[in-house]
Amino acid sequence: MGHANTSGTIMSNMSEEKYFKIRLNSLHPQTPLPFDLYIQIGSKYIHYLRAGNFLSQEKLARFEKQAPDQFFVPNENRATFKSYIHDHMVKENLKSGEKALMLRESSLSLVEELFESAAISEALAESQAIISEFVQFIDQHPEGISHLIGLSSHDFYTYNHSLDVAIYSLGLGKKAGYSGADLQELGEGALFHDIGKRHVAIEIICKTGPLDDSEWAQMQKHPQFGLKIMEEQNFTDNIKACCFEHHESFRGNGYPQQLVGEEIHPMARIIAITDTYDALTTKRSYNVPMGAIEAIRFMNEKIRFKYDADLMNAMSNVLFKMTKDIEHGSF
Ligand SMILES: [Fe+2]
Ligand SMILES: [Fe+2]
Repeated sequence: MGHANTSGTIMSNMSEEKYFKIRLNSLHPQTPLPFDLYIQIGSKYIHYLRAGNFLSQEKLARFEKQAPDQFFVPNENRATFKSYIHDHMVKENLKSGEKALMLRESSLSLVEELFESAAISEALAESQAIISEFVQFIDQHPEGISHLIGLSSHDFYTYNHSLDVAIYSLGLGKKAGYSGADLQELGEGALFHDIGKRHVAIEIICKTGPLDDSEWAQMQKHPQFGLKIMEEQNFTDNIKACCFEHHESFRGNGYPQQLVGEEIHPMARIIAITDTYDALTTKRSYNVPMGAIEAIRFMNEKIRFKYDADLMNAMSNVLFKMTKDIEHGSF
């Protein structure tokens, strides 16, 4: 919960925390960093690098292997960190693959706050800015979406999942003719689609085996919870529909409303596809993840009736193009 400081503005928990986590891959080697860097050892933050210095390629590679998750930046440098990433996004001498990596990695730790931080309004606003960076990036670099898709982590954490579903949805949305403000809205809706899981018990979210009936019933409430959060935060109807309708099925046997076919919001129809695709290609403790082609074949052959046929074709094309790009060594 926020509280008022002396100047009357609202301070959040997020700004009361002293450091925020960053991922090392979001830093560009050999460029001076405009912020201090800390390492967390036990519960202590140790000052590691002073602003103005840089990490060498070798050091970055070594840390990435040994301690990728323990780097922090002081919270007062949050804006500096974001403009550091933005500046690299518009640099002409960086390859689009390098930009894609920085963008994805820098976004992951911020998206994590969407699910972990008590300061939801700030986390949502920050996430909107992230989507705007992605939209600009793929507008300027049409091949950028293949790079981004190729970087998907295939790890199962709600925030990885949300970011990857957003990336796939931007790719599929662009293919389906979305642009500008519509594409931005779709990206936000996809990033927030599972936001209602904030209100589902963590033991259920993290359970590795199958859910029992009552756990499943609670899990299936996340679209309603998501709708409520989006309502409270004054998001648009399109974004609310992404949260509320992404588990509907084209044939009418989805949840929570059992909508049929085109009753389902077009953006939610996109997310239904990208959400399933991500689940199929993601490693969980009890499954072997499918590769891109295998997953798309499975969706086309076994569960095609659940999806909008035109969008399913477009998704196949997006992923087919990505695998071609990989074969041709564009990465
Ligand atoms: Fe969901
Ligand atoms: Fe999901």
